[in-house]
Amino acid sequence: MLYIGVDLGTSAVKMLLMTADGKIEKIVSKEYPLAFPHPGWSEQKPEDWWTAVMEGLKELTSECDKSQVAGISFGGQMHGLVILDKDDNVIRPAILWNDGRTTKEVEYLNNVIGKDKLSQYTANIAFAGFTAPKVLWVKENEPENFAKIAKIMLPKDYIAYMLSGVHCTDVSDASGMLLFDVKNKCWSKEMMEICSVKEEQLAKIFESYEVVGNIKADIAKELGLPETVKIIAGAGDNAAAAIGTGTVGDAMCNISLGTSGTIFISSKEFTVDDKNALHAFAHSDGNYHLMGCMLSAASCNKWWMEDILKTKEFAKEQEGIEEKLGENNVFYLPYLMGERSPHNNADARAMFIGMSMDTTRADMTQAVLEGVCFGIRDSFEVAKAQGINITKTKICGGGAKSPLWKKMMANVLGIPVQEIESEEGPGYGGAILAAVGCGEYASVEEAAGKLVKVVGEVTPDPELTAKYEAKYQKFKKIYPTVKELF
Ligand code: XUL
Repeated sequence: MLYIGVDLGTSAVKMLLMTADGKIEKIVSKEYPLAFPHPGWSEQKPEDWWTAVMEGLKELTSECDKSQVAGISFGGQMHGLVILDKDDNVIRPAILWNDGRTTKEVEYLNNVIGKDKLSQYTANIAFAGFTAPKVLWVKENEPENFAKIAKIMLPKDYIAYMLSGVHCTDVSDASGMLLFDVKNKCWSKEMMEICSVKEEQLAKIFESYEVVGNIKADIAKELGLPETVKIIAGAGDNAAAAIGTGTVGDAMCNISLGTSGTIFISSKEFTVDDKNALHAFAHSDGNYHLMGCMLSAASCNKWWMEDILKTKEFAKEQEGIEEKLGENNVFYLPYLMGERSPHNNADARAMFIGMSMDTTRADMTQAVLEGVCFGIRDSFEVAKAQGINITKTKICGGGAKSPLWKKMMANVLGIPVQEIESEEGPGYGGAILAAVGCGEYASVEEAAGKLVKVVGEVTPDPELTAKYEAKYQKFKKIYPTVKELF
C-alpha cells in the first residue's frame, strides 16, 4: 500500500508518497505567500494552503497506482489560529506561529492570570505565538470576527477537515494552543473560560496515529483516489519530524533547522521544566516531549543570503568558513521575529556585534550560522539544568543540508549529530503516522524503529568544542546586556 505525508510548512507544503516499507517514491512541493501586514505580524490564507494541497496531491499521485493509496496524514506548522464561521468558511487570514502581535495578551495571561495557574492548567505558560493569546487578541481587536467563530482550528487540522469533513486535532498540535491540558490530554475548562471559548468551538482530539475518518467522496473523486483512503490525525511539524527522524522513546533528541529552529526531547514521562522555558507537549508516539523553539533559524540564513547579500548560492557563500571555525569575532543574535525559547520576548530583534575593519562577508555569514547554533544551545542548557542527559541528536530541516552547519552544531553542543537517510522530517513522519493508522505497523515506535535509518554522524572535535564553549559564554551575555533596547 502507499501512504501520503503532508508537511504544511510556512513557505510551502511538501508532500511525499511512501511505500509500506518506507521508500519515498515521489516528493512534490507547492509554495504559497506569507504576509507580514505589520512589523512582527505574520499571516497566511488557509484557502491558499488548500489550493496548494489539492494541486500537490494531484501531481503526487499522477503516476502511481491510485488504488494502492491507503492513508494520508500530516505534520503541520503549529499554533496558527484558523477561525471558521457556522458554515465552515474561513473568517480571516490565519495568524501564524511566528506572529508577535499578542504582547499585551501574553502579559495578561502570564502576569494577571499568572504563570503558575497556566502551568497547572496546561503545563505551559503564554508565548506570543501560541493560539490562546491570539484568540484574546481577536476578541479585543476584531469583536465582529470573534462573534462569528464557530470553530477554532490549527493549520493542518483545517486541511484534515477539508479532506475528511471532521473537525479534528491531535494531542501534539493541541498542546501548543494553551487551551489543552497536556498531562491529561483534554481541553482545559479553566483556559476555555479565561479565553471565552466553548468546548463545541474546539476540535475533537485524537492521538496523532488515529484515524479521524475517510476521505470525502467528492474529494476522492476529484483526486481519483478510492473512497477507502483514511485520514489520520497527524502531528505538529516538530512532533512529526521527531517520528521522521526516529526521535521516540526516552531522552532522544532532534534538532530541526527550518524557518524555525527547534530542539525536541522525547520523554516517556510527563515533565515540565521549573521556569516553563521549554514547551511541555504531548508527543505523536503516545508519550510526551520537551521542546525549545527559536522563531528564526534557517530563515536567518535565507534573509542574510537572499535579502541582504542578494544571492541564492548558499553553499558557495559557506566555502572557506570551515577553516575558521571557532575563530570568528563577530556575533549574531538570531531574533529577526522576536524570540520564543528561552527568552519569551516578541520584541527582541536581531543584531550583529563585534565587527572590525577587517571583518569580511564570510565572517558575517559564519556569525549568522553560529548565532542559530548558540540559540539552540540556550534551550539545550535549560534541558541539561533539568537533569536531562542528552548524549546525541538527530538533525533535519533545510539547514541540515549544510555540512558546515551540522559541524558547527555538533561542536557548539558538544555532542554527535546524526544524519538521517530522509531529510523530509515532518513529511516522512506524517507518512509513517498514516501507515500506523492504517494498521501497517503496530505502533509508532515500531514503525520508526524499522523505517528510519541513520546514515552518518558528525562527531565533535574536543579542541573546537572548547573554542565554541568560550564563544558561547560570550554569546549568552549579549541578550541580557541589550535587552532593554528592544
Ligand atoms: C513550534 C513552532 C514552529 C512551527 C514551525 O513551537 O512554533 O516550529 O511549528 O512550523
